[in-house]
Amino acid sequence: MSLAGKNIFVTGGLGFIGSHTVLVLLDHGATVTLIDNLSNSFPRVWEHMKKLAGDKADKMKYIECDINDREGLTKIFDEDKFDCVIHFAGFKAVGESVDKPLEYYYNNFCGTVVLLEVMRKHGLKNMVFSSSCTVYGLPEEVPITEAAPLKAISPYGRTKLFQEDMFRDIAVSDKDWRILLLRYFNPIGAHPSGDLGEHPVGIPNNLMPYIQQVALGQREFLRVFGHDYPTPDGTAVRDYIHVMDLAEGHVSAVVKTLNTPDLGCTPINLGTGKGSSVLEMISAFEAASGVKVAHKLVDRRPGDSVAVWAATETAEKELGWKSKYDIHDMCKHQWAWASKYPQGFETPL
Ligand code: WQD
Repeated sequence: MSLAGKNIFVTGGLGFIGSHTVLVLLDHGATVTLIDNLSNSFPRVWEHMKKLAGDKADKMKYIECDINDREGLTKIFDEDKFDCVIHFAGFKAVGESVDKPLEYYYNNFCGTVVLLEVMRKHGLKNMVFSSSCTVYGLPEEVPITEAAPLKAISPYGRTKLFQEDMFRDIAVSDKDWRILLLRYFNPIGAHPSGDLGEHPVGIPNNLMPYIQQVALGQREFLRVFGHDYPTPDGTAVRDYIHVMDLAEGHVSAVVKTLNTPDLGCTPINLGTGKGSSVLEMISAFEAASGVKVAHKLVDRRPGDSVAVWAATETAEKELGWKSKYDIHDMCKHQWAWASKYPQGFETPL
């Protein structure tokens, strides 16, 4: 699948999924301009990306810019012509969004309005959007298809849902827009080289970064939220997907937008279609790292679903994409990253 000669604009390109996707875009022959406001990333990510890009490093450009910076975005779009935008930039911590809803709506929703206005002004109407399974809320059945009811249950989730609704309205108003809404399930893992991975800021809310920090001895033990769920081992089930599989899914999505004039606005789940429990993930990480992960069974976390995993038929049919890595690969790559860079990107090079 070639993107030779295609020029892609990526927002949030120094983030966990954005940085891995930029490298895979280069592998497929694209050139990339990426922006990031460093609100949830570090300048050192760019250094690692250049190292991994090797002789393709001159095919990517980084500009520090915020999606709410209309002037800054306009300057970039005045000076370069892009074929498609991949929009990752946004705040993404569920718990934080409850405490700071206004910041989340302004950054995530208003920032996207500004980005779309600048795109439209420059005649660019091809968009791949970083959405999330969070728009399904507490699903009534699994596997979850794209036709499942949409009901966000956090301010963060609502910012994703409101952005999706905005994209749907835009596509109705102007048939020239080609928009794919990629609904990720639980992204984990790291670049197979071990030189790029997730660096959560502060105390991790998500399972795998927390497990990683326990394995590194940076946290005393993991609290397993809930062990009385109606699941095989009593712990909650999720669809964990390798960040490299997600990156490839974005390349397939860009190709789809470039080649589908009547695309409109289409949601697509990006998951493995398999569910794994918290205890299964602990075991997989222990096997990958050779380190015991101390954990305690505690009460459920409010707002958590019992079991979530994706129906993957749409991604296979529409994108010709399916995940390749399993949870053992995900844990192996995540441990390679964590053990090589236990402090992540915090310390400048
Ligand atoms: C996974 C499982 C927890 C931490 C979140 C966002 C969602 C999406 C993916 C962005 C659950 C359990 C966790 C811990 C635990 N992100 N857990 N101890 O909640 O499925 O989804 O990330 O779009 O929007 O909500 O992921 O990693 O927080 O939790 O037992 O210390 O691990 O209860 O069952 P979640 P998670």
